[in-house]
Amino acid sequence: LVHSTKNKPMEILRNGIIGVDTSGKILFVKDDDSIESLSAELGFSPEVRNLKDSQFFIPGFVDTHIHAPQYPNTGTKVDLPLLEWLNAYTFPLETKYSDVKFARDVYKKVVHKTLSNGTTTACYFATIHHRASMALCDAAELFGQRAYVGKCNSDQNLPDNYCEGTDASLRDTEEFIIEVLARKNPLITPIITPRYAVSCTTELMSGLGKLAEKYDLPIQSHLCESLAEVKWVSELFPQFHSYTDVYDKCGVFTNKTVMAHCVYLTEFDLALMKERGVGVSHCPNSNLSICSGLMDSRTWLDKGLKVGLGTDVSGGYHPSMLDAIRLAIHTSNALSIQRPPDYRPLSYQEAFRMATLGGAEVLALDDTIGNFEVGKDFDALLVDMESSNSRVDTFDFDSTEDLVQKFLFIGDDRNIQEVYVCGQKVMDHAK
Ligand code: GUN
Ligand code: FE
Repeated sequence: LVHSTKNKPMEILRNGIIGVDTSGKILFVKDDDSIESLSAELGFSPEVRNLKDSQFFIPGFVDTHIHAPQYPNTGTKVDLPLLEWLNAYTFPLETKYSDVKFARDVYKKVVHKTLSNGTTTACYFATIHHRASMALCDAAELFGQRAYVGKCNSDQNLPDNYCEGTDASLRDTEEFIIEVLARKNPLITPIITPRYAVSCTTELMSGLGKLAEKYDLPIQSHLCESLAEVKWVSELFPQFHSYTDVYDKCGVFTNKTVMAHCVYLTEFDLALMKERGVGVSHCPNSNLSICSGLMDSRTWLDKGLKVGLGTDVSGGYHPSMLDAIRLAIHTSNALSIQRPPDYRPLSYQEAFRMATLGGAEVLALDDTIGNFEVGKDFDALLVDMESSNSRVDTFDFDSTEDLVQKFLFIGDDRNIQEVYVCGQKVMDHAK
């Protein structure tokens, strides 16, 4: 069993035994114990499954920021900076989701792809379209992925055919929330989703803050992603102290808020986010692909911010959280080259934590998922470094740490044999 704890970025229980009850909750976690003594302790003999030496369980990955509607563009069109990229490629694609049939087709693909790559929890941006956003809930439900789904809101500075009226945006969002909550699927949660400060009037933003409060919901948006965007926000909102101040004054900075990117945070921003308990979704692929900047995860962690990882498909060109782990490490390495010698780049263990427990913290789900703790839901990946189709060479002198590192650096979905969400096997690649 390989997971993170509050104090350790990575803990390896070499002879770990994990017990999962029929409701999908973790009943016990032991190391160096025997099934016989466990059975005596439990008062019954559990059904037992043994793993091979090449196999281990890790917690499922938590993608804290992904745009499901942008999936068709994944792997293409990353040749422009953010604001130009949005206008040239992203808004025209997102406009197409007025067609629910188109949405259904794409959303099944993106959920299947991310789940296959080990994303057991995804925090999704959808589009402004209520019906298409419901189709994303349907897709997550169909495949059994845990998901936050946000109908996106924008009432200014977007193309006319992809912009809402303020009242209509709020009304549609409340209807969406009520419809999602009525499903009573504990795995699917609506998330309040103002696209970013640029595209929302303070009236809309404040209305969304009130909706979040009324229904006790999480909130997501973008923050301090590129220099041009930060400058535009300061021009649009001169009455506010900073980018974060806009969100805070509108009531969308809560301890259930996740902000994507956060490359250019000032001391003021950092202090405010810490105070409010706002989490950071670090999206290194996107930050590098569309040349937004290098986010300093080390400093943000040292300042006490919660930090998770996001793929930010399709500003990020890769839907796998393994890629996010790698690029988070490389971003940190690149920063360290310019910093004083005592600057510590992110370790692979810390990046792993950000992809699992860190993400759960950012989404305020750390009482439910993120690691193997008694009472949490069993969201897990069975990794096999010697799966029949594995592309990774292993050696009999490889330690467990070596196998874990090989998975994180050069493994892929062919090493993810089984995927579990709340104890249910939702994907089985061995079959
Ligand atoms: N800022 C506003 N919208 C977007 C988006 O779709 N992607 C990214 N990366 N940043 C944004
Ligand atoms: Fe984004």
